[in-house]
Amino acid sequence: MLKVDIITIFPEYFREAFEYGIIRRARAAGLVNIQPHDLRAWTSDRHKVVDDRPFGGGDGMVLKPEPIFAAVESLAGARRRDDVAATKRVVLLSPQGKPFMQSLAAEFAKCDQVVLICGRYEGVDERVTDALVTDEVSIGDYVLSGGEPAALVVVDAVVRLIPGALGSETSATTESFSERLLDYPHYTRPPEFEGMRVPDVLLTGHHAEIERWRREAAEAKTKRNRPDLLK
Ligand code: 6GU
Repeated sequence: MLKVDIITIFPEYFREAFEYGIIRRARAAGLVNIQPHDLRAWTSDRHKVVDDRPFGGGDGMVLKPEPIFAAVESLAGARRRDDVAATKRVVLLSPQGKPFMQSLAAEFAKCDQVVLICGRYEGVDERVTDALVTDEVSIGDYVLSGGEPAALVVVDAVVRLIPGALGSETSATTESFSERLLDYPHYTRPPEFEGMRVPDVLLTGHHAEIERWRREAAEAKTKRNRPDLLK
């Protein structure tokens, strides 16, 4: 069973997020246990302060290190990266992170625990990154106001890779990115819609020709939308 702990200043943001589709089924089947936690629970002052002004000046507030170190210690039993068990990951979600990819999702899916720390866009005290976090991860080249939407993305990508989470065990390996190719185009009924025809080959039942069409269509689509994947 994979445990996913999400450290956030907005735990309510996740209220219904894991109650749909594959994630709901995986939770119900006992394949994953996802728990959002309020970072303020690990403050020790009366006003539950989680952020402070940046040393050196500048705009915005920075998340303080003490509550984050305390949260990770209580959830994962480590105050330093080197003390994090090999079966666990402590992940900081930040626009400065390494790109989140299918390969990293697959690594996370093999763990027994993944702790996701949701950063704020202004910043997180760098001692969290330097000493505590095993992976600093970004979901793409754009700026989110916080790591919460990125946590949803990571949880979704990881949970569907847990053995038993998908209906058919082959679906996870035959789709986009597992072989650096986008998925092929899909069609369903009707065979003609407002003058647009489903490619004839898909209606023939010739499996070898269908396979070839799908491979070529996937390559054409990859060349058009993601030429970087073919390099
Ligand atoms: Cl993980 N966090 C934030 N705040 N912005 C992002 C991101 C993460 N990934 C891309 N942009």
